Amino acid sequence: MKKTLTLLFSLASFALSAQTTPIYLNPNANIEDRIEDALQRMTLEEKVAVLHAQSKFSSPGVPRLGIPENWMSDGPHGIRAEVLWDEWYGADWTNDSCIAFPALTALAATWNTDLAELYGKNIGEEARYRKKNVLLGPGVNIYRTPLNGRNFEYMGEDPFLSSSMVVPYVRGVQSNNVAACVKHFALNNQEKYRDHINVIVSDRALHEIYLPAFKAAVQQGKAWAIMGSYNRYKEQHCCHNQYLLNDILKHDWDFDGVVISDWGGVHDTKEAINNGLDMEFGTWTNGMTWDKSNGYDKYFLAEPYRAMLKKGETSEEQLNDKVRRILRLIFRTNMSANSSYGSFGSPEHAAAGRKIAEEGIVLLQNNNNLLPVDLNTTKKILIVGENAVKSMTVGGGSSSLKAKYEISPLAGIQARVGNRAEVKYVVGYESPTTKEQDVKNAKEPEQKNIDAAALRNEAIAAARDADIVIIIGGLNKNNEQDSEGDDRKTLDLPYEQDVLIAELVKTNPKTAVIIISGNAVAMPWVKQTPAIVEAWYNGTEAGNALAAILFGDVNPSGKLPFTFPVRLQDNGAHTAGDYPGDGENETYKDDIFVGYRWLDKENISPLFAFGHGLSYTTFNYGKATADKNKIAANEKLKVTIPVKNIGTRDGAEVVQLYISDKKSSLPRPLKELKGFKKIYLQAGEEQIVAFTIDRESLSFYDNNKGEWIAESGEFEAWIGSSSADIKSKITFELK
Ligand code: BGC
Repeated sequence: MKKTLTLLFSLASFALSAQTTPIYLNPNANIEDRIEDALQRMTLEEKVAVLHAQSKFSSPGVPRLGIPENWMSDGPHGIRAEVLWDEWYGADWTNDSCIAFPALTALAATWNTDLAELYGKNIGEEARYRKKNVLLGPGVNIYRTPLNGRNFEYMGEDPFLSSSMVVPYVRGVQSNNVAACVKHFALNNQEKYRDHINVIVSDRALHEIYLPAFKAAVQQGKAWAIMGSYNRYKEQHCCHNQYLLNDILKHDWDFDGVVISDWGGVHDTKEAINNGLDMEFGTWTNGMTWDKSNGYDKYFLAEPYRAMLKKGETSEEQLNDKVRRILRLIFRTNMSANSSYGSFGSPEHAAAGRKIAEEGIVLLQNNNNLLPVDLNTTKKILIVGENAVKSMTVGGGSSSLKAKYEISPLAGIQARVGNRAEVKYVVGYESPTTKEQDVKNAKEPEQKNIDAAALRNEAIAAARDADIVIIIGGLNKNNEQDSEGDDRKTLDLPYEQDVLIAELVKTNPKTAVIIISGNAVAMPWVKQTPAIVEAWYNGTEAGNALAAILFGDVNPSGKLPFTFPVRLQDNGAHTAGDYPGDGENETYKDDIFVGYRWLDKENISPLFAFGHGLSYTTFNYGKATADKNKIAANEKLKVTIPVKNIGTRDGAEVVQLYISDKKSSLPRPLKELKGFKKIYLQAGEEQIVAFTIDRESLSFYDNNKGEWIAESGEFEAWIGSSSADIKSKITFELK
């Protein structure tokens, strides 16, 4: 009897609570219904409160309604250490050491969309565990100049490649109910003058080069958030920009997510209200702090907004649109029924990072098969270079990480070699000591006197009797290298490395040069140096991944996501364009001719071409064939090509499809990447690789008509192993 009563009682209270549970709290209700329900319960004060930060990286929810806060984290290579509530300084937690994943340039160099998804899924799990519902990444600004200090956070120079890689990254992140916040929208292609430079660019270059990756992230990846950039376009700051945010993003692309400002990127209340911004972060604190007394309630979208609403100078309907977007974000993430606990610093995440690193490392040159190092015949290995031991997860600005561990190249090589050979290390060159990032009261470090000649001579002496010399140099995360806030000053390697490398190669011709960087560098010693590797910033497992490549456990398969020019003048931004602008304006006169498009137009040979990367095996390309030679606008063309691994090692190749328009009413690039496939072939194996060409692959953006058009006429499909190594061409016609 008692049992029956209890049962009846609990059934009754369940029915009652089911009846009274507000829709917005019901995780199984439709999100749009939840939004409307929550919205009509919120006061004006509560609506304004959710629009702006309450701490460096968080914004309030609606405590009265049980709607939680939003917590953001950089991004894009790992989950940043906790900082103090109101400071950039580390909070010194002991449980916030993350897995540092490879930099996005390294990910792009894998040309493997499955790995982009794996990356997103793993970093999303780390974010979820750390209770962050917005990841400030990925970055997809186009690599326009090799001087841009933040290129390492982006996915290279080509809109098709970056679009292809960003979509799975976003999906992977968001599969954890963590929003990807794609950044920095848009035209933030340099750090110099970044907070105010007004970019003047043709609509055509905007749509063909600078926007596609953002569009793909929004329309195919369904990104839940996007970050406005610091710079200006059409004389408006991009965080409140009518053209970019209202017209293109929200109207043309139907973006239903949240526009988040870059930290300190908001400058005006009225523009912010009217020109598409939804959430304001980092005002006063972008390194240009005005005054500590300017609290969060003084933000442009705080009291000043409230005042305008009260005076009737702006409508509540416009406010509601912003609040709806923020509620949508919360229901998609923190208040979703599917949220998991995530996981953090796990061996699985480290393994994923290592796999990405191994597939991203690019073998640029390998004369006389100097690599891989054969430990049966190599007994004395000399490692030279500061980057063999320097941490690359720390520094560089907002992407700086507190990694759970970081295997340096030297440690990775030592672990791999064990006692099979002697591994000797000399530093060879040194960079100045830098002030610690994100540390309160960090002191300007004392600079020791660096005697470059003495360091060099020590390395030269050691190189004489080595069986192989492996130089591990490149750039680093210091200011004016690969780092936020400023650009590099030159294409050259810093710290007298060019002299060091030239001397070492002269002393010992069996020398391999490993460049750690997120940018192209000049290589005046390229002809004399047998082996050159681009090894990026590879995070936690960097050293193990590099060792796996150098000793042949993994066959390299990375391909460059941007061009290495011989000289800076071989880059359009520096010749046609007026990089870095006059401090006020910058005109992108290089227009659509960015990266290899410029070199093709000017008939310039690159140092290493976009899409280039060697393997320890050899791939043989057959002849391309197509299923027809004419297509109508609504038809598709299928092109196939046999590719065979004719070497003795298993390996992977990235087969690339470029389209060349033979005749058009507007100038077009000689060729443009419109497809790629990464295939894995055992020694001796052959595969038929197929590409589909549709109208989109043939279109260009017409400034006058304001739309994409494909003109009838003759086209060519070029298939190759890099943008400079085309193996087979086929002609077809669009009717
Ligand atoms: C950077 C953003 C970053 C933000 C928060 C800004 O300075 O440009 O990429 O997400 O800081 O750290």
